Amino acid sequence: MTDMIRVDALSKTYVLHTQGGVEIPVFAGAELSVAAGECVTLHGPSGAGKSTLLRCLYGNCKPDAGSIRVRHDGGEVDIATAAPRLVLEVRRRTLGYVSQFLRAIPRVPALDVVAEPLRALGVAEEAARTRAGELLARLRIPERLWHLAPATFSGGEQQRVNIARGFAAGHPILLLDEPTASLDARNRAVVIDLIGEAKATGTALVGVFHDDEVREAVSTRIHTLQG
Ligand SMILES: Nc1ncnc2c1ncn2[C@@H]1O[C@H](COP(=O)(O)OP(=O)(O)OP(=O)(O)O)[C@@H](O)[C@H]1O
Ligand SMILES: [Mg+2]
Repeated sequence: MTDMIRVDALSKTYVLHTQGGVEIPVFAGAELSVAAGECVTLHGPSGAGKSTLLRCLYGNCKPDAGSIRVRHDGGEVDIATAAPRLVLEVRRRTLGYVSQFLRAIPRVPALDVVAEPLRALGVAEEAARTRAGELLARLRIPERLWHLAPATFSGGEQQRVNIARGFAAGHPILLLDEPTASLDARNRAVVIDLIGEAKATGTALVGVFHDDEVREAVSTRIHTLQG
């Protein structure tokens, strides 16, 4: 497999057990492949299943059928069936994810939120903090906020911390769910640059981008979900 991600015959139906077992089919037989250096944009109407597909790729959502093969450690892991421990290992070394909202961990300062994925890879403390600071500075988080927990930050500030964390470790695969949704034009431009640099170093990206300008700037291919 030369692709970094290969999705085959993937199906997902949500079942609402607390609401009489109502079934919500999201996609059936979905196919997707992503090579190194590509940024594939998932596009389609609200409710089409873009976030669901990203969550499945990250192992946060169990598909009903199909496979999600990811290149990891010179081999291949099927995220759809991998044991939880292995999924965590794939996330540590291979798979990054920027969710739409930061799940702020109480009392953990922004600098540590960003440095944590680097520490998990064994990067020395000083180097991890330096790299985290560089990213926070690029994303215009004022230095006086670096040592505060992001829980009280504005929506846009939290999202920029989230983006810095997602890009910190330089994972070979990066999933982005509307990373620029609450950002102003200057910060959107920074994210466009970060995505461009990641592509140039061979990262495989899959993202959802609401903003036409961002989508046009970063996408190497558009993958349409019909809903
Ligand atoms: N946890 C869940 N449980 C049940 N149904 C869900 C769940 N998450 C999503 N859905 C349903 O699955 C469908 C797809 O949702 P999803 O969030 O993947 O759409 P989307 O394409 O990301 O939409 P948007 O552009 O609005 O973010 C929707 O109809 C939604 O109601
Ligand atoms: Mg979504």
